[in-house]
Amino acid sequence: MGYFRETIEKMEGYTPGFQPKNPDAVKLNTNENPYPPSPKVLEAIRGIRDFQVRRYPDPMGGAFHQAASEVFDLPEDHVLCVNGGDELLNYAFRAFCDADRPAAWAEPTYSLYPVLARLQDCRAIQIDRNEDSLEELARINAPLTIVCNPNAPTCDFTPVDKIAELASRLEGVLLVDEAYVDFAQDNCLRLVRDFANVIVLRSMSKGYSLAGMRAGLGFAQPTLIEGLVKVKDSYNIDAVTITAAAEALRDQAYHKDCVAKIIAERSRMIGELRKMEIAVPDSTTNFVLAQSIQMPAEKLFKLLAERDIYVRYFKLPGLEDKLRITIGTPEQNDQLLRAIKEILSRE
Ligand SMILES: Cc1ncc(COP(=O)(O)O)c(C=O)c1O
Repeated sequence: MGYFRETIEKMEGYTPGFQPKNPDAVKLNTNENPYPPSPKVLEAIRGIRDFQVRRYPDPMGGAFHQAASEVFDLPEDHVLCVNGGDELLNYAFRAFCDADRPAAWAEPTYSLYPVLARLQDCRAIQIDRNEDSLEELARINAPLTIVCNPNAPTCDFTPVDKIAELASRLEGVLLVDEAYVDFAQDNCLRLVRDFANVIVLRSMSKGYSLAGMRAGLGFAQPTLIEGLVKVKDSYNIDAVTITAAAEALRDQAYHKDCVAKIIAERSRMIGELRKMEIAVPDSTTNFVLAQSIQMPAEKLFKLLAERDIYVRYFKLPGLEDKLRITIGTPEQNDQLLRAIKEILSRE
């Protein structure tokens, strides 16, 4: 008998993006924010008192929980603080899925979903992403349906009224993964008030520069929040993250400024890449999905990595010919653009 459950023995784990040791590498591979967090975050972390480290933290996330409730204008019983959005996804599979209760979503999307389904021994109903996919998801009516909006890695945004219609037709839970919504024009938070089956996921990793802290949020009506609390780790948010995430949320002016800079750079990057005959659809996220006509994506990815410039390549159906590029600072983006130009001119 092996040590592991058969599922674990046989499955591939999730492959996280490469984390280069060199802090000066041009790191555009995991959709982090290129700007530092609000100065108030670092100041608050420096002010952490010994008892905050010695004692267990507030099980619901204390100051982080309160700040999220105020900033997003929903009562505290509608808010779940999580150790990164990934943790909420984990909890959703644990809470709603098993061998008899499948999860459904449209591909391509976030490559963690199938891994979590596998871990939970639940069937993953993966349909093709096209203009009919919401209709099909409604017909499938799975115990857990996930819609990533804006979708990663395709960068497009599904209008909120279409997602509302899907919510109204589903008997199971609809989880709207809004990890990138800070860079879009609209969001689904208002659906939480209208629908008992909707969970909205937010990440503090992208718009708030806290990827290293691991902070995220789930919003839903109290019945769903109470059920998710049953499956969560008792003290899932540590004291330092609670402090940092609360400050980051309260400094909305800083957050909005960073987001505006990234959105401006996104337009410039898309324009510049298109000039090099790289196909890039419009984006509502902090990254773009680029397809070079001239060079296979994997080759371009490797040649960039040789120059200490990291983007993301997925060897997955529908993505093998594309690179996902995070929007960095203007300087980082210029380095990337110069490198691509140079590589392609040598072809
Ligand atoms: C689509 C999507 N959802 C959720 C997450 C989770 O983000 P985090 O756990 O950093 O909050 C990510 C992270 O890359 C993502 O791409």
